[in-house]
Amino acid sequence: MTMLKMSDLNLKGKRVLIREDLNVPLKNNAITSDIRIKAIVPTIKAALKAGAKVMIMSHLGRPKEGSYDEQFSLAPIAARLSELLKLEIPLIQHWLKNVNMGDHDVVLLENVRFNDGESENDASLAKKMAALCDVYVMDAFATAHREEASTCGIAQYAPVACAGPLLISELEALTSIMEKAKHPVVAIVGGSKVSTKLGLLESLVNKVDYLIIGGGIANTFIAAEGYTVGRSLYEPDLIDEAERLTLAAKNRGAQIIVPTDVVVAEKLSDSSESSPRLISQVDDHEKIYDIGPDTIKTICTILKKAKTILWNGPVGAFEIKQFSEGTEAVARAIADSAGFSVAGGGDTLAAIEAYGIAKKIDYISTGGGAFLTFLEGKTLPAIAALEEHYKTNEKVT
Ligand code: 3PG
Repeated sequence: MTMLKMSDLNLKGKRVLIREDLNVPLKNNAITSDIRIKAIVPTIKAALKAGAKVMIMSHLGRPKEGSYDEQFSLAPIAARLSELLKLEIPLIQHWLKNVNMGDHDVVLLENVRFNDGESENDASLAKKMAALCDVYVMDAFATAHREEASTCGIAQYAPVACAGPLLISELEALTSIMEKAKHPVVAIVGGSKVSTKLGLLESLVNKVDYLIIGGGIANTFIAAEGYTVGRSLYEPDLIDEAERLTLAAKNRGAQIIVPTDVVVAEKLSDSSESSPRLISQVDDHEKIYDIGPDTIKTICTILKKAKTILWNGPVGAFEIKQFSEGTEAVARAIADSAGFSVAGGGDTLAAIEAYGIAKKIDYISTGGGAFLTFLEGKTLPAIAALEEHYKTNEKVT
C-alpha cells in the first residue's frame, strides 16, 4: 500500500480535515459505547501537536440525505470528545461553504450524511469538502469500505490526501494477523447468517488451523452434518457451501469446529427456560441459542494452545443470561490466552465490553463491515482512493 501518511507531513498552520468514524451506538441520546471516540483521540492530539487547525467529520447512522434530523446529530459525540480531549469542541452546522473555526483549534462538523450526494460519492459535494482544507486525512478505518464523498471522492480533489494514524494501525494489525500470524492460528466466527460471513469463512479456511463456528452460522453447519436444528434459523441453500468449506479445511490439514452440543429453548426471551442438548437430541420444536458445555470445553482447549486468535461474532444470544455462557467462556478464554488476539465487529465489541476484557485483547478493531471486507481480502475503496491520490500527486511534500 503506497500512500501518504499524516505523520510524514508538515501540518503547521494547515487546515486539516480529518474523516473519522464516530458512528457510535446511542440509546435515548446517550452513547452506549465510546470505543470509537476514544480511538481517535491519539490522531487528534498528534495533529494538534503538529500545529494543525483540525476539522473532524463523521457520519452517524443512516439519516435521509439532504436535511437535518436531530436524532442523527453529532451533538452527543461533540460533548464526549470535548471531555476526552479536555477541550471545548464546537459542533459546526452548515459547514460546506466555509468553516469558521473562531478561536478553536478543533471543531466537529455536523453529520456528513446530512449532505445530498454523500452516499453516491457525488463529485460536486466531494469538491466542496476538499476546498475546505489544505490536507485531507482519512482515518476512518470503520468506514473505509464505503465509497462516499467524504471517504473517497474528496481524496481526488483535496490538495493533499493522506492516511491517519488510526487507519494505519488498523491496516498494520490486520495485515499482520493475515500474513504473518504465528501458528496455531484459531479463528472464531459467530453471527446469525452464513451468507453474511461466507467471504470471511472462505478467506479464513485457507489460513487458519482451527475455524470455530458459533452463533446462528453454526446451525447451517450442524444441518450439513445431517442433524435436525429444530425451528432454529439456518440456510438450507448454503449446506453445500458448509460441506465444501469443511472439506477445504480438511484437505489442508485444518479443522472446522462445529458445536457437538448446544443450549435450546422454545423462544428467545428473558423468561425462556433453557436446556442443554447433544446436537443429535434437538427436538423439532426447539431453537438453538448457545453452544453447550462440551463444545465450550473443546473450544477452550484449542484456545489455550493458540498463538494467534481472531474473533468475530458471539457464539450465542449472549444478551440473554440463559444463552450467554458460551460467549462469556470464549471471551474469557481469549482474554486469558497467551496468543496474540484480535477482535472486531459490533456485537463482538459489545461482548468484550459486557465482560470487561478489553484490556486483555491485544488488538480491538473499530471496524465492523470494514473489518470483514478487509479480512475477506477485498480492496477497501477509501484505501484505493488514497493510493490513487499518491500515484497522481507523487511529488507532494
Ligand atoms: C459501521 O458502523 O460499520 C460504519 O460506521 C459504517 O456504517 P454504515 O454501515 O452505515 O455505512
